[in-house]
Amino acid sequence: MIRVQVPATTANLGPGFDCLGMALELYNTVEITPASRGLIIEISGEGAAELPRDEHNLVYQAVQHVFRQVGYSPAGLKLRLFNQIPVARGLGSSTSAIVGGVIAANLLSGGKLSLKDIINLSSTVEGHHDNVAPAVLGGIVVSVQADGDVKCLKIQPPPGLKGVVAIPDFAFATKTSRDMLPLQVSFQEASFNVGRAALLVAALQQGDLSLLGVAMEDRLHQSLRSSYIPGFKKVLAAAKLAGARGVTLSGAGPTVIAFADSNLELIARVMGDTFRQNGVKSRVLVLKPSPIGARALEIK
Ligand code: HSE
Repeated sequence: MIRVQVPATTANLGPGFDCLGMALELYNTVEITPASRGLIIEISGEGAAELPRDEHNLVYQAVQHVFRQVGYSPAGLKLRLFNQIPVARGLGSSTSAIVGGVIAANLLSGGKLSLKDIINLSSTVEGHHDNVAPAVLGGIVVSVQADGDVKCLKIQPPPGLKGVVAIPDFAFATKTSRDMLPLQVSFQEASFNVGRAALLVAALQQGDLSLLGVAMEDRLHQSLRSSYIPGFKKVLAAAKLAGARGVTLSGAGPTVIAFADSNLELIARVMGDTFRQNGVKSRVLVLKPSPIGARALEIK
């Protein structure tokens, strides 16, 4: 039996569309055991009521990708999934399923894939390396796709930085949320984001949280996507007023994440209250960045 734990991730981090992401201390766990025949999938926690327990399950599909690649085929398989990450909320639940499946299957089949192979294969299956790279490596990761590879570098999160996540009670599939984006953006919008993404990386690297307010602004995707999230702008403003350093959409949404190093309870309360005043039920969690990425908890 192999058990692997994978952190949640918040992608984009404001202006870093498709290239920045951070791992958070909220985890999904994948347990894989070879069996004499058939497929059994047990799911508990988040998504237990809706996630498929057959060949359509994402963990299972990721496992199959690895088995095909390395030429391994057990007679049967048992998967047990323990999920803490809410599904389709912009916190990397699909990524955690895929990364968990890839790493667990790799360990079960003899560990032939390198870390780089794991990131590349998971990104091909998932489609979003800005979620995959921090889920595998932990911390904050800058990643781009080039020459058939994901090129990435990790930054350790600044000490004391935490994420207050307000998770609305409705799902927003990344595909739907991507389909609403324009095919082209203006030179001014591109330049606005390039500068802020660069500033954000430098600010995170040097631990200068005072710059996060400006450095987390975005003009590529957030305003279009957030138009489907009632109260989004008010939640942002309330979190900032309560002391958040920077506030942004988490991944493709609908979760909003506020980064702060103090006033965490107040920020959490005003974000939840503001969503409620706008007719949105939400769960609010205060999460630390996860300095480590996916890891095997048990191999026996
Ligand atoms: N960068 C991707 C997007 C992340 O915003 O569509 C998806 O989680």
